[in-house]
Parts: sequence; C-alpha cells; structure tokens
Amino acid sequence: MPKKFTSKKIGFLGGGQLAQMLALRAHEMGHIPFVLSANSTDPAAQVVRHWQQGNVYSVKDLQNFLEKIDVVTFESEFIDIGKLKQARKNQKVKAYPSLANMKMMQDRFSQKKSLIKYELPTSPFIKVSNYNQARKAADFFNGPFVLKQRFHGYDGYGTFVIHKRTQLHKMKSQIEQNPHGFIAEKFIPFQRELAITVVRSSNKSLTFLPLVESLQQNSRCLWVKGPVNHSKIASLKKKIQNYVESINYVGAIAFELFDCGKQLLINEIAPRVHNSAHYSQDALNYDQFELHLLAITQQSLPKVKSFSPGFAMYNLLGTKTTSKIQLSQPPQCHLHWYHKIDSRPGRKMGHINCLSSSADKALKHLKDARKGFKL
Ligand SMILES: Nc1ncnc2c1ncn2[C@@H]1O[C@H](COP(=O)(O)OP(=O)(O)O)[C@@H](O)[C@H]1O
Ligand SMILES: [Mg+2]
Repeated sequence: MPKKFTSKKIGFLGGGQLAQMLALRAHEMGHIPFVLSANSTDPAAQVVRHWQQGNVYSVKDLQNFLEKIDVVTFESEFIDIGKLKQARKNQKVKAYPSLANMKMMQDRFSQKKSLIKYELPTSPFIKVSNYNQARKAADFFNGPFVLKQRFHGYDGYGTFVIHKRTQLHKMKSQIEQNPHGFIAEKFIPFQRELAITVVRSSNKSLTFLPLVESLQQNSRCLWVKGPVNHSKIASLKKKIQNYVESINYVGAIAFELFDCGKQLLINEIAPRVHNSAHYSQDALNYDQFELHLLAITQQSLPKVKSFSPGFAMYNLLGTKTTSKIQLSQPPQCHLHWYHKIDSRPGRKMGHINCLSSSADKALKHLKDARKGFKL
C-alpha cells in the first residue's frame, strides 16, 4: 500500500537559489512552501505565495515565521542558533537538520573535530585564535597551509592559502580583529576535487547520490561532472553512513572531497542541498531537493538511479555588473535560472544541466552552451 501523507507547511530561511529550488519542489510535491527573506526580489520570494519579509537574524521575525509552519529547514548553515532557539520556544515547529547539528557544522573547528571523532579522513588542522597562534601554525606545518575563518566562509571568502610568512604578516590585523578566529590546515596538493551527497530521513532511511567531480575557479564551483569512481569511495561511504547515523543527521548533506590518488580526504561538509548535486535535477530519478524534502517530512527515501551514463552541470556565473542579461536555450540542455535582478562578477545566476553518453561529452557540450549567455 502506498503511504499516505498530509501536506506540510515547510518554511525556508533565506531567499537565495537553494531556497527557491526547494520551494518549487515542495510545491510540486503537495507541500506549502513559506519563505522568510529580506526582499521581494529574492529568488525564493519570487516563487511562493507565502513570502514573509523579514530578517532571519531577528527573533521577532523568526517567531512570526515559525508559528505559521510545521517544519523549518535551511538554505545556509549561517543561522543564529541562539536566536532560533529563542524564537522556537513553546512552538511545535520541527527543525531539520537539528539545531545541534547545524551548530556543530557551522563552525569549521567543531566540524573538523567531529570528523576526527568518527574517524573520517581529513587534513591535519589546528585552531588559530590570534596572530601568535597563526605564526605557530606556520612553524607546525612548515610549508604551505590554508587559513580558514571558522564562521561564515563560503565560495572562498574567508579562505587564504599561505605560502610565505610575509603573507601572514600582512594579514595580522585581519587575524586579530576576527571575533571567531580561524583554523589552519595543511595545504593538500590534490589531483581533483570530488563531492558526494547523502540524504537521511527522519524515519532513518538513507540514500547516496553518485560521486562526482567538481572544478572550482577562484574557489567557486564552475562545473560538476559524473559519475566518477575512486578506489576508496566504498569504504568512505560506509564511514559517512556511520557518521550521519551517529549524529542522527536529517536532510541532505554534501561532502566535499580531495582526491589525493590513493587517498580520499574530506575537505568540508555542508549541511544542506549543495551546488555539487544540482545535476540531480535532470540526471537522476529523484533530485536532491525532493530527497531533502522527503527526508524532513519523515518519508522513506528511494534508491536513486541515473538516466544516462554521463551528466554534467555548468554554473552560469556573472562576468560584469549589469541588468542587461542575454539568456539562451542551448539544445540538449536544461536551463535552471534563478531570476536574480542584476549580474555581478562571479555571482551564481543560474546553471545548465546536460546528459550524454559520457561525463566528458556532457561537460564539453555545456562549455559550448555557456557561450550563448551574456551575463
Ligand atoms: N587544505 C587545502 N588544500 C588545498 N586547497 C584547499 C584546501 N582547503 C581549501 N582549498 C581550496 O579552496 C576551496 C575553498 O575552500 P573550502 O574549504 O571548500 O571553503 P568554501 O566554504 O569557501 O567552499 C576548495 O574548494 C579548494 O579548492
Ligand atoms: Mg567548499
């Protein structure tokens, strides 16, 4: 017998493209999407009937929002856990992933500590809270290392590769003034970057998406292709499964990986739907957005199947500041456009997906297709 379900009011904090794609999918799946964001022009605000103008860092705005919905979920890990807890007091609204897991993962230091605790392979790291400790880190690694802000880093913001002491010296005031501090980790001369997303439901079922390769340009994802393979992925998947089960994680979670040849290291984890799994919208029988929504509404998760032997995703990144945008509909490609009002250099404006007989063919097709857009 197919399982019956009641439509849920699902709230998304934030109005970016991830909330937009979640909201659109939630609507199609029979749920009622609610969005809390600052501007009516935000990508997610444009696609829902229940948009609340507000600040995701205001207890009052959060309170008003939470009392209207059954479940709240996040498009970003940068939420204020304290304010959310305060706003959620005496409310029956569920939060997935749990606030405890969001709190642990939004801080790179506690995230890395949890990887070590559950024996997941990751680069060596130390905590850096002041300039003196940064100098000690340089001694400790005795070679190139990476300084990363503990909080609020994304798309390379807050990540600094340090090759020389003079670089560190120039960053002295920046290091001293950051209220939350940094972690320093060993620079990893990886061969390529990979990613894998797993989704776990509040009913405890779990499903993995395929392993993919991604290319970052200036620390920002440019493309993803797959499926790819690695000799260590089967054993890593077992450890990842143990990890998400041990911390009772609910929802989609993406693992960014460094392929070091014989070794696979985890670079970082994102407790949400992720750019590296956007290909799933066209390449898989269930996409990451639907899986995340099934997971947070206590449904069983299906095994995912790929529609084709190869697939790829190419981000449509802005190249200049302009509202004069030229779109294109390249053949054999699926366009996903976020409807941001202006383009800016490096801004994620949309993405295109393509299926083909191999990952490389799909990617080549997308690289050509990109030329049709003026952003
Ligand atoms: N330890 C490292 N060694 C080498 N390159 C790194 C290291 N950490 C990060 N990078 C590079 O910087 C990019 C951004 O760093 P990441 O930790 O993923 O931060 P963000 O949150 O900005 O994505 C990575 O995708 C990778 O290309
Ligand atoms: Mg990253």
